[in-house]
Amino acid sequence: MSQEMSPGFSGILSAPAPLQRLRMLQDRLGVTSRHLQRINDLSDVFLSETEAFAHSLYEQLHDMQTTRMILDHGPSREKMIRIWSRWYASFFHNQSTENFLAAQWRSGLRHVASGVDHRWISLAYALARVFIHQVATKKLDSATKGETQDLLDRLVDLCLLVETDAFITSLSRCDHEIIRGIAHQVRNPLTIIGGNVMRLLKQTPKSDPVHDIYASMLTETSRLERMVRNVTTYNEVFQREPGMAFCPLEPALQTVLDELRPEEGIAVYLQLSSKHPAVFADPKDLRIVFYHLLQNSLENLTKADYPELRVISAQNVDNDRFLDIRIFNNGPVPDPDSLEKLFTPFYSTKALGTGFGLPIARLAVSKNQGHLSLIPEPNKGTTCLVTLPLAEPSENHP
Ligand code: HEM
Repeated sequence: MSQEMSPGFSGILSAPAPLQRLRMLQDRLGVTSRHLQRINDLSDVFLSETEAFAHSLYEQLHDMQTTRMILDHGPSREKMIRIWSRWYASFFHNQSTENFLAAQWRSGLRHVASGVDHRWISLAYALARVFIHQVATKKLDSATKGETQDLLDRLVDLCLLVETDAFITSLSRCDHEIIRGIAHQVRNPLTIIGGNVMRLLKQTPKSDPVHDIYASMLTETSRLERMVRNVTTYNEVFQREPGMAFCPLEPALQTVLDELRPEEGIAVYLQLSSKHPAVFADPKDLRIVFYHLLQNSLENLTKADYPELRVISAQNVDNDRFLDIRIFNNGPVPDPDSLEKLFTPFYSTKALGTGFGLPIARLAVSKNQGHLSLIPEPNKGTTCLVTLPLAEPSENHP
C-alpha cells in the first residue's frame, strides 16, 4: 500500500460528511438513538476487551499474505493498534450519533486515500463482528445476549455501509476530478487552434481548395469546444449536491429561450399550468435541463416545414405530487429502436452533435428526483417528457 495520497484526494478528505444521507442509511437499518444508548449502557462489558480486539484484528490480517503486504508497508503496528482501539471504543461509547457517522465516513475516505482495497475493509468488519459476538457470548447472560447481538450486528452493518458510501463517493469524485483536469487542459489548446484556423480561413480565397479544408477544421474545432463545455457541465451536474428551491417554470423557460434565440419562422408556444406554476428543484439544474432540451428541439426544427416548439405543463395523472412538462417539436422523429441510445454519452445522430445534451438533461432530472423520457409520435414530432416534484404551497417563497 502506498502511503502517498492519490492525486485529487486532498480536497476529498476535507469534504464534509453527507450526514443527511448517512442518517437515512441509519434509519433504514433501524439503528435508533435508543439502541445506541442501550449499547452505551453495556459498554463496560465490551470496553475491557479494547486492546484484545485491536491485537486480534492485527494478527488475523497479518496472517493473510495480501493484507500483511499492506500492513508491513503502511503505518507502524503501534499506530494501527491505536487506530483500531480508538474505533472499537467509539463503537461502544459513542457520545453523539452525528460524530460517530462523520468519523466512520472519514475513516472510509482515509482508506480510499491510502489505497486500501475495499474487500479487505469488508473482511475486517466481518472479523470485528465475530470478535464482538464472542465477547457478547462470553460476558452477557442469555436474556440480554440475543437482543444485544441484534443491535450490535446492525451497528456493524451501518459502519460498513457508511464506509461503502465514502468509498463510492470518493472514487467517483476522483474520476470526475480527472475528467475536469483533462477538459481544462484540452480547452486552452483548442481555443488557440480554433483562432489560428479562423485567421487562415479569412486569408484564403474561396477558390483555393485549401479553403474547404480550413472550413472543416474550424467546424470540427467548434464541435470539440462544445464537447469540452458539455463534459464540464456533465461533471458539474454530477458533483454538485442539489439545493432545492421553489422554481417557477415560466421565467425559467423564458430565460433559456431568450438565450437560445429561436430562428425566425419557428412558432414557440408556452402552455403552462396556472394551478401549478412551479416545481421544487435545484434552479441551476433546472436551467441546464431546459437549456439542453430546448436546444435539442430547436436544432431538430431546422429540418421541419412548419417548425413548431410547444411546452405544456400539467399535474401528473398517476402521482399528484409531480408535474409533467412536455417539450414538443415537430421536426424529424427519431427511430423508436434508438431512443435509449440517445441518452448514452457520445452517441449523436447530428453532424455537429456532441452526444451530451440528453445525458446531461437526464442526469440533472434524476438528481432532482424526476424522470426524463422521449416519446416519438410518428408523422407528428417528438415530446421530451420531464416529470419533476411539484412545489408545495409551503415551499412558495417567490
Ligand atoms: C474494522 C475495520 C477497520 C476499521 C474500523 C478501521 C478504522 C480506521 C480509522 C478510524 C482510520 C482513520 C484514522 C485517522 O485518521 O486517525 C483508519 C485509517 C487507516 N486504516 Fe483502517 N480500519 C479498518 C480496516 C483496515 C484494514 C483492513 C486496513 C488494511 C489492511 C486498514 C488500514 C488503514 C490505513 C493504512 C489507514 C491510514 C492510517 C494513517 O496513515 O493515518 N484499515 N482506519
